[in-house]
Amino acid sequence: PTTAIIIVAAGSGTRLGATAPKAFVGIDERSVLRHALDGVFAASPAQVIVVAPAGHEGDAESELLAAAGDRSDLGRVVVGGETRQQSVAAGLRALWGDITTVLVHDAARALTPPTQIDAVAEAVTADTGVIPVLPVIDTIKRVDEERIVAAVNRSELAAAQTPQGFPRALLESAYALADEVEYTDDAALFAAAGHPVRHITGSARAFKITTADDLERARQLLADMPG
Ligand code: C5P
Repeated sequence: PTTAIIIVAAGSGTRLGATAPKAFVGIDERSVLRHALDGVFAASPAQVIVVAPAGHEGDAESELLAAAGDRSDLGRVVVGGETRQQSVAAGLRALWGDITTVLVHDAARALTPPTQIDAVAEAVTADTGVIPVLPVIDTIKRVDEERIVAAVNRSELAAAQTPQGFPRALLESAYALADEVEYTDDAALFAAAGHPVRHITGSARAFKITTADDLERARQLLADMPG
């Protein structure tokens, strides 16, 4: 394949209130990371780099092997960093072969439909990044301590999801430039290097599991899923 998917799973998940890192918390009998990997391996064939928390490389390797089946030659585990950005950078350094498109995906978006992964990969061009977004449902306010400063025009806003897809060469040079600066996501880092980013429609199922409520929502979705 010429596409690689970097699954960042090196977060501690303190907001989830679990003892294990978030990637290894069970949703049903399968962990967050295992569900994310199942989604990635159900999409079109791609090189898969799992970025694991230090000390959990073996656990990540087991999940990768279980999800990959006979495609385990496409997968590799590396250790992440202190920030998400450092974890993505570690994933980029682990790419091998003739990869031209890189997707960066949060393991925490464990139930992301494989069709969303393919749609992002297909929309990436030689000079343009692509991210899935959803419209913002709530009315958003700008606040200053306890005071409401203003309502923000919702039609100008979108909530960014993953995977976020980029041409490899430009993403690598953007990461080299970003060295000292922390960006909110890969699209912001890529745009800061002067490259355009387009958006496609995301999916409610690609929500990020952050809190115990999110984990409950994921459990409910799986229980309601046919098959
Ligand atoms: O913390 P948050 O849920 O926003 O993290 C998003 C994704 O980035 C998660 O899948 C998490 O495992 C990953 N991450 C990482 N390395 C870090 C912090 C977060 O791989 N240092």
